[in-house]
Amino acid sequence: MDHNVLARIAAVIQSSSVQGWLVIDRDFNVVHANEAYCQLWKTEPDEVIGQCILNLFFNGKKQDERGQYVGPLVETMDTGREISLMEVCVTNNYHEANIWCLANTYILRDAEGRMEYAVGTYLPIDKFKVIERRLDSINLNIIKAFCKAIGVRDAYTKQHSESVAYLMVELAEFMNLSPDDVTKAYLAGIVHDVGKIGVPEKILGKPGRLSDEEFEIIKCHPVKGSEILAEIDGLGTVTNIVRHHHERYDGRGYPEGLAGEDIPFLSRMLSICDAFDAMTSKRCYRDPYTTTQAVAEIRRCAGLQFDPQISESFIKFIRGQFKQV
Ligand SMILES: [Fe+2]
Repeated sequence: MDHNVLARIAAVIQSSSVQGWLVIDRDFNVVHANEAYCQLWKTEPDEVIGQCILNLFFNGKKQDERGQYVGPLVETMDTGREISLMEVCVTNNYHEANIWCLANTYILRDAEGRMEYAVGTYLPIDKFKVIERRLDSINLNIIKAFCKAIGVRDAYTKQHSESVAYLMVELAEFMNLSPDDVTKAYLAGIVHDVGKIGVPEKILGKPGRLSDEEFEIIKCHPVKGSEILAEIDGLGTVTNIVRHHHERYDGRGYPEGLAGEDIPFLSRMLSICDAFDAMTSKRCYRDPYTTTQAVAEIRRCAGLQFDPQISESFIKFIRGQFKQV
């Protein structure tokens, strides 16, 4: 696909490379599928690019018998409405796999303002659903309400939280952690930036460098987040993980300047997953890193910002997910 179009896509969507992206034109033909998408659908770009998604996945139909759209991307191209954070169960006709995904759609317009492309982003959430079944439903609902509250103020943080939760769960399983730790890893990923609720929107979305004063305000979010979470029964360890997710292995982080193994293990994991997702996402102040560049940065910072052993496991895990790295 034309590099300029890809750059325009990256400029409108805030999902990182962890999420699968599928781009269609006005005729519902696929013009781009990123690597995460191909991994998710166990397909190759040549199998989907140039194909009409209606024929590929939906037997040529836009709507089912009840008049419901067959999928968010089809709906967006047909109606011109963007969709955010919709849980969808997607079926791949080729491989007969059903995957629960969190989907967002975006519209790209041409110079005259007409719809040119529609982009769908997909994050697999099957494992989230399994974990959620193990949790107390009242606490879970409280947590989800918090997440919604952040999402309303700051779309980036909401998407980022889900992507970080995905990376945390996958990494925890890759490292053979216990089911209990996988659950904590998930929760910590979802709620880690909840303290940003106390940060003014003009600072969260500021393009360019933050002043020292603004940075001091941002730096309060791990402690604020842990104070909010402390109100919920049963979140004791998660509270502590969130409190320390901006500590650095070399002791130069915040809020307490803890170093090495004094930092909770899951906080050390979280700081890597958080940084990786932030680097590979488009932010208002810079273009996204490629997966390869982000991995190189994790390697460069291993032993300084990040735990060297967890960094090594993370890089192995990402290499298993993305062939190109
Ligand atoms: Fe954070």
